[in-house]
Amino acid sequence: MQVVEQLSDLKTVLQGWRQAGLTVGFVPTMGNLHAGHLSLVSLAQRHCDKVVVSIFVNPLQFGPNEDFAAYPRTGLLDQAALRSLNTDVLFYPAVTQMYPNGLTQTLVKVPPPLTTVLEGSSRPGHFDGVTTVVTKLFNMVQPDVAVFGQKDFQQLRVIETMVADMALPIKIISGAIARDEDGLALSSRNQYLNAKQRVIAPKLNTVLQDVQMALHAGNTNYTALCAAASAQLLALGFDAVDYLTVCNAQTLQSLKNDATEQEVERVILVVARLGKTRLLDNIVV
Ligand code: PAF
Repeated sequence: MQVVEQLSDLKTVLQGWRQAGLTVGFVPTMGNLHAGHLSLVSLAQRHCDKVVVSIFVNPLQFGPNEDFAAYPRTGLLDQAALRSLNTDVLFYPAVTQMYPNGLTQTLVKVPPPLTTVLEGSSRPGHFDGVTTVVTKLFNMVQPDVAVFGQKDFQQLRVIETMVADMALPIKIISGAIARDEDGLALSSRNQYLNAKQRVIAPKLNTVLQDVQMALHAGNTNYTALCAAASAQLLALGFDAVDYLTVCNAQTLQSLKNDATEQEVERVILVVARLGKTRLLDNIVV
């Protein structure tokens, strides 16, 4: 695996691949890689001849009171994990490489409501930071295929929208959520949980599965279902529920209680807090 920090070096490698007629897959990450990220790399390898993984903790997508400084940076462990998968290139740019003129720069914005509901309402500006850095990374890597995890379901939809709106010649592929044996969705932020919180955390998925079962049974009283499930999460020990909602899986608009909407592909999305840690999960129904 080549570890590349400079854009000029990345271009040299990519040029060689292009001249040899090879296809390029890309997995953007913020590092602190776990089995979920690695499954995305394997997925990219199944679709392309060569795979580039980027590790860049993007300051532009963190709010002023969020965990940018504390975000776990585990470069050497990440490199070892990527080597074990025979990743071709790790692109590991510095902030000055990505934002040579500082963070006040042209932004790529997918319009509301997709970017202002759910995560967008808790984290104003977050998706502008994501779409801006992903556009820059796409321009640098120029991949044929890029892989994103379904765990960040709204991010996936936002990126798909950006790619379609801007006619970017990149195929977006999504990878399934990787879970611990007890059902907890893998996340770099799980390591913030203390032992007591770690016991409570997997109940997020159990409650989501209960909502899924109710939907499969034909219950379309989404308001009552979500209110009951949120109350259950609080009773189980979660400190807050930012949202728990059943949405149209394409538009991410919350569904109104209406039997006719049973035909729409639905997604149940939840964010609940244990202490300061926000845990995200979702199930596509
Ligand atoms: O999902 C992430 O890790 C980040 O939002 C991404 C896509 C790498 C952009 O910084």
